[in-house]
Amino acid sequence: MKPKIYLSPPHLTGEEQKYIKQAFDSNWIAPLGANVDGFEQDICNFTKAKHCAVLSSGTAAIHLALQILEVKKNDTVLCPTFTFAATINPIIYQQATPIFIDSEMDTLNMCPVLLEKAIQSEIKKGKKPKVIVLVHIYGMPAKLNEIISISKKYSIPIIEDAADTLGSTYNDKFVGTFGEIGIYSFNGNKIITTSGGGALVSNKKEHTKKATFLATQARDKAPHYQHSQIGYNYRMSNILAGIGRGQIEVIKDRIAARRKNHKFYTEKLSEFNFIKEPKNVFSNRWLSIMLTDSFKTREKIRLSLEKENIESRPLWKPMHLQPIFKKYNSFLNSNAEKLFKNGLCLPSGSNLNNKDLQRITNCIKKVIQTN
Ligand SMILES: Cc1ncc(COP(=O)(O)O)c(C=O)c1O
Repeated sequence: MKPKIYLSPPHLTGEEQKYIKQAFDSNWIAPLGANVDGFEQDICNFTKAKHCAVLSSGTAAIHLALQILEVKKNDTVLCPTFTFAATINPIIYQQATPIFIDSEMDTLNMCPVLLEKAIQSEIKKGKKPKVIVLVHIYGMPAKLNEIISISKKYSIPIIEDAADTLGSTYNDKFVGTFGEIGIYSFNGNKIITTSGGGALVSNKKEHTKKATFLATQARDKAPHYQHSQIGYNYRMSNILAGIGRGQIEVIKDRIAARRKNHKFYTEKLSEFNFIKEPKNVFSNRWLSIMLTDSFKTREKIRLSLEKENIESRPLWKPMHLQPIFKKYNSFLNSNAEKLFKNGLCLPSGSNLNNKDLQRITNCIKKVIQTN
């Protein structure tokens, strides 16, 4: 059996060890310390966000963002149906109600036309939605101009779920820094990793201050332990922040490598549809995704890759089709369902070499030649 090719594995440099060693040498093995402060500063320097709080996961960051914007029981939250469940779960933690919005086909993100329709429909029912959770899926920025103007028109703030999309830009500005609050993930499969971790960024200091407060059990200022509200244990450890410090040093190389993978696929697999970068957009190409003509072809390719010890994965199963979420209201155009049926995420790690890429594309070519 040939060696396994994973979808999106971690890609370490070795330099992470330097920061981890410093944490050990100084005995700062806690969820605070020089690496935590340093990594927050690194993220601000890279994204140009004014403030940052590093946390235990991207999911925790979304949860705190919702709390900071005071999303409460029975509030409604607009979110895409074409995303990972981690975008939606924190809305449920808050006992709020998600409203699912389908995708447009230029970027596969939230469709601005359906978004406005949903807002108008909710207002008609007498309830303005509290927040828009906007996802930039697979590294591709959403239609920010249109969505920001809707957000302004109806005064509904945006939380940007840029879990997959650190380093992507829209009009030369980093995604995650457009909304009231943005979040990133450093899970093991992301463009850079801390093994598990996340960040909340904002241009308002009060938001990241509140995030840090809530993430450390909401301790009041007192010499003893005193609490006036419910808190969480969501801070990032100084060890993991050390991994992040090493990783962020090479983020530009990691993005370049993933963009190279994507280019290779588009050139070798020109019979398939790949999502193009709109002209005001730079995508980190976190995952390369390919759209086939049918579910049957998609499955044939996926199973052939699996036989060759190559990991691939169908695109997200839409949230409105998930057993746990299907009871919620949704505004649909069938795009997310089509994407789920026909689309495939191809191996996209920044550590793939040309031989790996050749092996993957040869396998796919063989399937279509025998089709
Ligand atoms: C779109 C999206 N949102 C949120 C998350 C959650 O991030 P984490 O795994 O760090 O909790 C992820 C990834 O895992 C994601 O892909």
